[in-house]
Amino acid sequence: MRTFIKILLAISLILAFFWLVVMKVISRLAAAFGVSGPCPYELSWLVDNPIRQNAIPRLLDRVGIRPGERVLELGPGPGAFTVEAARRAGPGGRVVAVDIQPAMIAQVEARVRQAGLTNVETHVASAHNLPLPAGSIDRAFLLTVLGEIPDPNRALAELHRVLAPDGVLSVGEAFLDPDYPFPVETVRRVEVAGFQLIERHGNFWEYALNFRRVTHDAPAGLEIMACPACHAALTWREAENALRCTACGTDYPVRQGIPHFVAPATLTGLNRRFASLYDWFSWFYRLFSKIAFAYIGMPEAAGFRLAERHGNLWDYTLNFRRVRIDSGVTP
Ligand SMILES: C[S@@+](CC[C@H](N)C(=O)[O-])C[C@H]1O[C@@H](n2cnc3c(N)ncnc32)[C@H](O)[C@@H]1O
Ligand SMILES: [Zn+2]
Repeated sequence: MRTFIKILLAISLILAFFWLVVMKVISRLAAAFGVSGPCPYELSWLVDNPIRQNAIPRLLDRVGIRPGERVLELGPGPGAFTVEAARRAGPGGRVVAVDIQPAMIAQVEARVRQAGLTNVETHVASAHNLPLPAGSIDRAFLLTVLGEIPDPNRALAELHRVLAPDGVLSVGEAFLDPDYPFPVETVRRVEVAGFQLIERHGNFWEYALNFRRVTHDAPAGLEIMACPACHAALTWREAENALRCTACGTDYPVRQGIPHFVAPATLTGLNRRFASLYDWFSWFYRLFSKIAFAYIGMPEAAGFRLAERHGNLWDYTLNFRRVRIDSGVTP
């Protein structure tokens, strides 16, 4: 009997190790080589089971859907969250569910029909090309989806496009998912795509991060840049976060204010790795410059107000205007 329990324990430990460690390594290697794919329909019970169904209200509270909102659920799978999300959006709002697998969308539609809801719209489409007009969504959410998308940066660019200027993007992840990204990876990836972290929920093992869409900055020095293909002038396209050639019409994507004259999606091998390393560095750089500029607080407390910023983290000049100091005493 004791040996039997020991064998059982050993098998469970091996299985847990395989699921929590080996699968993660395989999934990351697959993503690095651009061969990650969607979780097959036959495995959808993994995300659609009684334990998870119990957590639906708590997980949707984090997303923060308000009545009347136009909500995008990207990668709804079999639709465990769709019906409750649509109820929260209410009759004045709507939920658009987009999934790449027709079997998943069929399941979503069956659930919505059964619930008698009319404010849900479904699409079989890829996150790389969302079938939605620019600025048409108030709030988008992805639950254990981002890591499955072959080109998550492209999906984030699409989410940026379809969200309204002040729109919110909520990304939820769970450690049990083999595609699980660490919170810092998600923050970095989403912020680089033109969003700003506004709320954190949960913990390391299961989290939701909410971001506000921010307007992309035009790259500095635009007036002296030219199209590398035909040398014509370039114009700034905020909606696409890209520079467009005025002659040949080619779009060059911009990330973190820096034009990419070679499309990131066309990079392969080491170049692809370097591009991602570069994103990491530029993200850290922005983070640290925010910390440096936090010192603005000191002169401001002494009776000055920031009027101009020059330079960057490494060398900067901040100009303040002297302001009247209140005595704090009411005459
Ligand atoms: C792990 S399931 C999560 C389902 C649901 N969000 C949940 O938490 O219960 C991931 C879903 O994302 C979808 N998906 C994966 N890659 C996609 C892509 N490139 N475009 C659209 N949907 C995708 C899959 O088809 C699958 O239904
Ligand atoms: Zn050109």
